[in-house]
Amino acid sequence: MNKILEVTGLEGGYSNVQILNGIDLYVNEGEFVTIIGPNGCGKSTFLKVLFGLATHQKGNVLHKNLDISGWRTDKLVDRGIAYVPQVENIFPSLSVKENLQMGGINLSNKKLISSIERACKMFPDLELRMNDLAASLSGGERQMLAISRALISDPTLLLLDEPTAALSPKYQKAIIENINELRRDGISILLVEQNAKLSLSKSNRGYIFSGGKVAHSGNAKNILDDPNIGDYFLGLR
Ligand SMILES: Nc1ncnc2c1ncn2[C@@H]1O[C@H](COP(=O)(O)OP(=O)(O)OP(=O)(O)O)[C@@H](O)[C@H]1O
Ligand SMILES: [Mg+2]
Repeated sequence: MNKILEVTGLEGGYSNVQILNGIDLYVNEGEFVTIIGPNGCGKSTFLKVLFGLATHQKGNVLHKNLDISGWRTDKLVDRGIAYVPQVENIFPSLSVKENLQMGGINLSNKKLISSIERACKMFPDLELRMNDLAASLSGGERQMLAISRALISDPTLLLLDEPTAALSPKYQKAIIENINELRRDGISILLVEQNAKLSLSKSNRGYIFSGGKVAHSGNAKNILDDPNIGDYFLGLR
């Protein structure tokens, strides 16, 4: 199977502060991969290093076999990588439409319009709110907008950081299902999630981070079914 992302021995953090202590992880084309782990173990930092927003210190990051370690964010976007941050992922003082337009600042007008149409098809609720201020959206609608905004650049690899945080169970399920649907459009998914059970139930594989390292990885179903992992990491039982 072709790997869209292959990370080996990744060390990184913030300037000289090291948070990630040698991460090995891959995502096959078309896969949905979930990262879980306790607070402060480096999940967000990992996505930020991948997206050029935190410091790459050591190790390799291959995207479709090309080494993109330490690349700038704009070059990563051009290569088809998009990222939805854990916090502050929309501009509340702009309208929904303006938020989407901001996601396609590098696109031609024609491409921008077709990308916005595609986003509306995925989240029909947003289409009805196009001219409303993003500040007026509910928590779930904001996450949908943040995901739509990331999709405007037409990515093939989407990095998402806790897209269901603080949402009701109904919205959590809807968001994870929508993310899973993106695979039909040829988008591979790498997701950090606090609702481990929900996300792993849709994922191909999972990684458990602990202390800036991969403590365990494997088939998502096996992780869900493993009583030791369930007790220790997931609080599932
Ligand atoms: N901008 C920053 N500068 C310095 N250290 C930071 C910065 N952001 C995060 N850290 C530190 O990096 C470590 C890992 O944080 P990170 O946000 O990656 O954890 P996380 O696994 O995403 O946690 P959570 O589940 O709470 O979102 C923490 O010790 C945190 O204090
Ligand atoms: Mg985090």
